[in-house]
Amino acid sequence: MSRFKLILLGTLLSGALWSCHQTHNIDLEVAPISLIPQPLSLMVDSGLFVFDQEVRILVQDSAQEQLANNFLKYFAAIGSWTPQVVKDPQTAELIFTTNSDLPNEAYALDVTPDGINIQASGKAGWLYGIQTLLQLFPADFFSKSVLNRPAWAVPALHIEDAPAFPWRGFMLDVSRHWFNKEEVKAVLDIMAGLKLNRFHWHLTDDQGWRIEIEDYPKLTEIGAWRVDHINYDENISNWWGRAVQQPGDVADYGGFYTKKDIQEIILYAKDRNIEIIPEIDMPGHAQATIAAYPEIGCVNAAPYVATGGVFKNNTYNPGKELTFEFVKDVLEEVMALFPYDYIHIGGDECNKEQWKLDPHAQQRIREEGLKDEQELQSYFVKRVEEIINAGGKKMIGWDEILEGGLAPNATVMSWRGEEGGIIAAESGHDVIMTPAKYCYLDLKQGPDDQEPNLGYSRMLLSEAYNYQLIPENFSSEQAAKVIGTQANLWTESITDWGKLTYMTFPRLFAIAENAWTPEERQDWDEFFPRLQGQLKRLDAMEVRYATSAFDVNIQHKGVPEGIELTLTSEVNHLDYYYTLDGTDPDTTTFKYQSPFVVREGMEIKAQAFKDKESLGKITH
Ligand code: ACM
Repeated sequence: MSRFKLILLGTLLSGALWSCHQTHNIDLEVAPISLIPQPLSLMVDSGLFVFDQEVRILVQDSAQEQLANNFLKYFAAIGSWTPQVVKDPQTAELIFTTNSDLPNEAYALDVTPDGINIQASGKAGWLYGIQTLLQLFPADFFSKSVLNRPAWAVPALHIEDAPAFPWRGFMLDVSRHWFNKEEVKAVLDIMAGLKLNRFHWHLTDDQGWRIEIEDYPKLTEIGAWRVDHINYDENISNWWGRAVQQPGDVADYGGFYTKKDIQEIILYAKDRNIEIIPEIDMPGHAQATIAAYPEIGCVNAAPYVATGGVFKNNTYNPGKELTFEFVKDVLEEVMALFPYDYIHIGGDECNKEQWKLDPHAQQRIREEGLKDEQELQSYFVKRVEEIINAGGKKMIGWDEILEGGLAPNATVMSWRGEEGGIIAAESGHDVIMTPAKYCYLDLKQGPDDQEPNLGYSRMLLSEAYNYQLIPENFSSEQAAKVIGTQANLWTESITDWGKLTYMTFPRLFAIAENAWTPEERQDWDEFFPRLQGQLKRLDAMEVRYATSAFDVNIQHKGVPEGIELTLTSEVNHLDYYYTLDGTDPDTTTFKYQSPFVVREGMEIKAQAFKDKESLGKITH
């Protein structure tokens, strides 16, 4: 049944910037359609659907009810009314319908002036239909302030959508810096908004053990706490050279999740179609483990949790049976807690120097007839895989688990490049492509002199966006072994939430689109206007993000007449305005046309603009 609305339906020109429509004598803002990830197909119709407090959402099972209630929270956060949830099929404007022909996670979304229909085969698809619907609201809808508007409009359209890859991940390192339960939930919200469905939880490393294990209480009594010498300043690079713990230092920085916390997070993730992959990093990256239980470490291991930087004598001892007892007990608790298929065992960057010196490790090499320490690592990983498979689960590791021979059923996360992923896929193993160069959010997103001192090296937004995760020469069988991709956020210099979001956005938009949208539907120039819409939403939510891709790069070249300046930015087709007298540029100052010459002593300041709106920061 259609509902009469006092609405003037102006023509909604697709691509028009901000259109205003009137209802109840108020202006209704309609945002340009800026969906990320880009759906498989999108047809824009004319007209709008208007949400006001008369709108009814029909729910017919507990999954729909829970999705509807989560949707209502957005209305409740910005005003004094919400649409209503009803159970009577005659009277609703927003409905969920079941279409069992659609694969899991696929959905169709129809918005007309009369109503909204979200079709899917079940909860995952309905959830993604709601996420897309949310992205159709104007940025203000996500404001941190109470706006109390009487109505909100979304444009009429038809979308059919399904993911390109089943594994769409985000990894958070909670060892180097501690992020609490509420922050983890906020990460899960970010993920669900971008249709990401695998949360890889890096729970242990040299700098902290973060999961309660009942059989080994010292893991959290000792392993979860370290010295934090420096009050972090993002203008100072200080992680790698940090001093180790000194006598008298108090190890009071850290935290851990209890089993109850983890159960709560698992439920929260389930509502967002997210599986969690716990990572217990071994045999390397284990200084926190060794500090708690030195008996499973190698000779001369330090008795404290790492403070920062790179730690060398930080490995499990693969020569001792005690080590395998520890691994079995710990993994059995972890497997009992997480109701999913996969356990991640790390396996990366294992420093084998200490194995050369350790008598137990050397004895193992002799007894097992192993060639060298590489094969000892493989021996370790294969025994760990047996424990995991015996627990009914599958093992994942970083690509180093290929060294010395891959465990028979392992899934490989290719991070040092694509090579490990290629070898693993060619030998029939499932692969997650996450090469550092395109997927590491701890890399800087612009030139050193324009970025805060977080992370190292560089991974630009455009590099993340243009990454093709199926290598070009792959056969269709090999391609089928690539189950997806993920963004990884290592937190050596990420001490707080604002730094976390700064490194995450906007690059997570690019990675999410790689994971969800088929390659042929992706285009860098066309991504930018959609990104602008998303950034307006982050602005409304007061989320910190990087503008590096829009900042003007100023290149200098000495020429006989002075210095020639060339202005560029990563995003194409922007206007650059500049000044030469130290004042801030705007659209009334010089507009850049082509390289120009300045004299020594002139001070250039430049900024990018699109449609007269400034973007990014002023550079000089
Ligand atoms: C890694 O970055 N060590 C997986």
